[in-house]
Amino acid sequence: MDFTFTKEQLHWQMAAQKFAHDVVAPLARKMDEEGIMPQSIIEQMASHGFLGGSIPKEFGGSGMDSLSLALTYTELGRACSSVRGFMTVHTSLVMQCIEQNGSEEQKKEFLPQLASAKLIGCYCLTEPEAGSDAGSIQTKAERTEGGYILNGEKIWITNANLANLAIVFAKLPAIEGAKPHASITAFLVDTNSKGFIRKKMPGKELGHHASDHAHITFDNCFVADTRVLGGENNGFKVAMSALDHGRLGVASGALGVHQACLDACVDFVRSRKQFGSRLGDFEMVQAVIADMKTSLEASRFLVYNAAWKKDQGISSTLETSMAKLHATEAAVKAANEAVLLHGGRGYSNEYPVERYLRDIKGLQIYEGTSHIQKIVIARNVIGK
Ligand code: CAA
Repeated sequence: MDFTFTKEQLHWQMAAQKFAHDVVAPLARKMDEEGIMPQSIIEQMASHGFLGGSIPKEFGGSGMDSLSLALTYTELGRACSSVRGFMTVHTSLVMQCIEQNGSEEQKKEFLPQLASAKLIGCYCLTEPEAGSDAGSIQTKAERTEGGYILNGEKIWITNANLANLAIVFAKLPAIEGAKPHASITAFLVDTNSKGFIRKKMPGKELGHHASDHAHITFDNCFVADTRVLGGENNGFKVAMSALDHGRLGVASGALGVHQACLDACVDFVRSRKQFGSRLGDFEMVQAVIADMKTSLEASRFLVYNAAWKKDQGISSTLETSMAKLHATEAAVKAANEAVLLHGGRGYSNEYPVERYLRDIKGLQIYEGTSHIQKIVIARNVIGK
């Protein structure tokens, strides 16, 4: 494996770094305090081609390879996890899922509009009684004249209050003798449909304050039969394939948060003096920086390796789960150490490290917790 960046990879990394530095970072604290991501950030991400991600140009995408997309997420994640999270759901969970599982008509209809942010996408899997156990969702789909009627409830759906298009997972009547996940079907649902009812998730969240998380109720919501994504009763595999894309985005975002923690700590220990010396001259502080850097590089290689494998067309589920597990766990540790190293200043939002710590906990949970990644990894190694 040669991770010398190609011209194209360098282009996307530099473009994302500049956008994150010039546009996102200056607003990150305000977005965190006010709990809103300005629409202009989404529009600019579309105009820079970031939202087009790895979708082929013929469908309005940017045709990035997986490493370019990972580098883009890392740079955005360095500045703000809410902005990176918006894009991962929109571009990886939704657009890559449609590209992989959609019909030609569905791809032509939706992908160009999603790439240009004319449409915003969300991915509706999680329910009150089905988080990690995604196969046990209870939302029902009943066949009716020309389509299906959906009834049920979804929670924690990122981007859903902004979205125009939702990928919704629901169960058709159970197939006798088959496993519970066997009747799950994916539907492309217009969020303005009658019976698609959404509201903000209740409660104040620890981090990701500028992210939009919704509770959705489906009350006899009609969806046409042309809007089945990936075939009837194939929805669980559609859901899992989308998560393979999304989890690589989360791992890349965690790398960005980890890098931001290291950058903040290096700046701080170079300038802050205690006991007559720079903090960086104390060996205990040096040990923290050394561990932070080493675990960052380990995460980086796992993320790049998963992206590389994906681009070879080889199944990368195992590598992606290892990257998400390691990158998020290592970044949580780095953020924790960063707050400690900054002392009282780290505990205040005068410095960004407390936001990194609050935000990174979300990456450890969404798109499959660390425990779920361990299940995926172990099953790939041992067999189920
Ligand atoms: N790609 C394609 N197919 C896959 C797959 C993959 N990555 N992983 C599994 N499958 C297939 C299996 O081959 C199997 O196929 P058969 O029916 O033909 O046998 C089928 O799916 C069922 O697989 P399992 O028996 O392994 O399923 P399971 O019920 O034991 O669950 C699990 C496995 C990995 C734990 C899964 O349930 C899981 O990933 N859970 C976590 C869910 C999750 O990440 N939720 C987050 C949702 S999104 C979010 O966070 C919020 C947001 O807004 C974005």
